[in-house]
Amino acid sequence: MDYHTLLARLGEGSAHPGGFQATKELIGQIGFPRGTKVLEAGCGTGRTACYLASLGCNVTAIDRNEDMIQKATYRAKISGFPIRIVQADAASMPFPDETFDAVFTESVTAFTEGSSAIREYWRVLKPKGVLYDRELAFAIKLTTAQKKKLQSFYGLHHLRTVPEWLKLMSKSSFHKCSASHFSQMKQLAGDNDPLRVIDHELFTKPDVVAMMMKNERLMSSFSNVMGSVVITAWKA
Ligand SMILES: C[S@@+](CC[C@H](N)C(=O)[O-])C[C@H]1O[C@@H](n2cnc3c(N)ncnc32)[C@H](O)[C@@H]1O
Repeated sequence: MDYHTLLARLGEGSAHPGGFQATKELIGQIGFPRGTKVLEAGCGTGRTACYLASLGCNVTAIDRNEDMIQKATYRAKISGFPIRIVQADAASMPFPDETFDAVFTESVTAFTEGSSAIREYWRVLKPKGVLYDRELAFAIKLTTAQKKKLQSFYGLHHLRTVPEWLKLMSKSSFHKCSASHFSQMKQLAGDNDPLRVIDHELFTKPDVVAMMMKNERLMSSFSNVMGSVVITAWKA
């Protein structure tokens, strides 16, 4: 089982640095007007997509994982939000050019090769559209051995520092971009998701339990250097 399958089966609803609290804060700062056409790329179980819809956004959400799509669809149905949910890859999206006012994504681009997903975000945005991308970032350049450890477990393509994220963005077609300060990973308490659907059978499987423990160990041994950045990029 890979990391994303584990997340999907655990029904993890805010699998990014800072959790759902950070998502709500960022969306509060952005202040999308009602009716804004937002694409959420890599929606996971649909928690953020439903939150955006509750604020009056016109939301389309994609994820490449089938289990995540089923959980997001269930959440949208129970919540009563008319979200368009599509199983698709962020690096090759089934939408026409210039469809959305904004692309919102958290902890997804790092799992892609990078430039192709960014090219797609740019392509599907309308002129003057904006990308908001919260990504895993590192305070220092990791050694090759450290990178290997994290890449093989999490399936990450690249482990970037904030300047490395900005360098990647500078090669894209976006007209302008900015990055928040590096923010260290916070331990989250009490992030209760009432619509979480957990596959409890997982806890009876020793290999899966070993995987969860490895995740905990990696998180704690890299906690001093691991964090996040929010990149905002504007299409001309
Ligand atoms: C770390 S989780 C973050 C999920 C959600 N954005 C959140 O913050 O809770 C990464 C999500 O991105 C999805 N994903 C990874 N690579 C993807 C890709 N190339 N295209 C679409 N979805 C992808 C995974 O299936 C997973 O749901």
